[in-house]
Amino acid sequence: MINIVLFGPPGSGKGTQSQKLIDKYGLIHLSTGDILRNEISEGTELGVKAKKFMDAGELVPDADVIAMVIHKLTEYDDPMGFIFDGFPRTPEQARSIRHSLTDKDLRINIMITLEVPCEELISRLVKRGEETGRSDDERSIIEKRLEVYLQQSKPVIDFYDKMRKYVAIDGMGTIDEIFDRIVCAVEACI
Ligand code: AP5
Repeated sequence: MINIVLFGPPGSGKGTQSQKLIDKYGLIHLSTGDILRNEISEGTELGVKAKKFMDAGELVPDADVIAMVIHKLTEYDDPMGFIFDGFPRTPEQARSIRHSLTDKDLRINIMITLEVPCEELISRLVKRGEETGRSDDERSIIEKRLEVYLQQSKPVIDFYDKMRKYVAIDGMGTIDEIFDRIVCAVEACI
């Protein structure tokens, strides 16, 4: 079983690269952003609560996201492993998932951070906003998401670095070039 945390700022390519990792390794994609957007479209209590935070470019409270992820993990029998995309996003989330996996005798094998310059992130997300109308891909919200990443999410890197699981990957180039770099890092840890 391989469990990968795919980390990085908004627009760094986590979702794009997750799809390629799923195809290669048969892993289950656990994207907290996608799960939350699904909750919003279904109008659940969690969705209604999460929407306020997501529309403001802020993080949904830890307790809600942690409970949601832990519940999701119970939905699969004998998985090949998980790609955690956009989770954990705070040190509290990182500690919780570690405890939860340890209880099941499981662990995160590697935490990959996609590194992309800020101007490129903004340009990718503005473009996607124009093409798809995703509501938080509007310039002022994108800027807020980037600020939140630097202040609240980046410390997660230290958490995995201390456990020697952190690998930084250059997130610039073609999607296939970046994927090759990710595969090299994954193969080195399994
Ligand atoms: P989430 O959905 O996780 O969004 P995000 O982290 O802001 O990430 P994105 O999906 O925007 O970017 P990505 O890195 O996946 O890049 P992608 O591959 O899509 O979270 C949304 C919100 O939900 C958060 O703000 C928060 O409110 C809430 N939330 C989610 N998880 C949470 C948590 N754990 N705790 C609390 N709150 C949480 O690519 C982006 C664009 O770039 C695409 O158009 C793509 O085609 C393009 N692209 C990709 N790769 C390349 C490349 N190499 N070259 C050029 N373009 C590229």
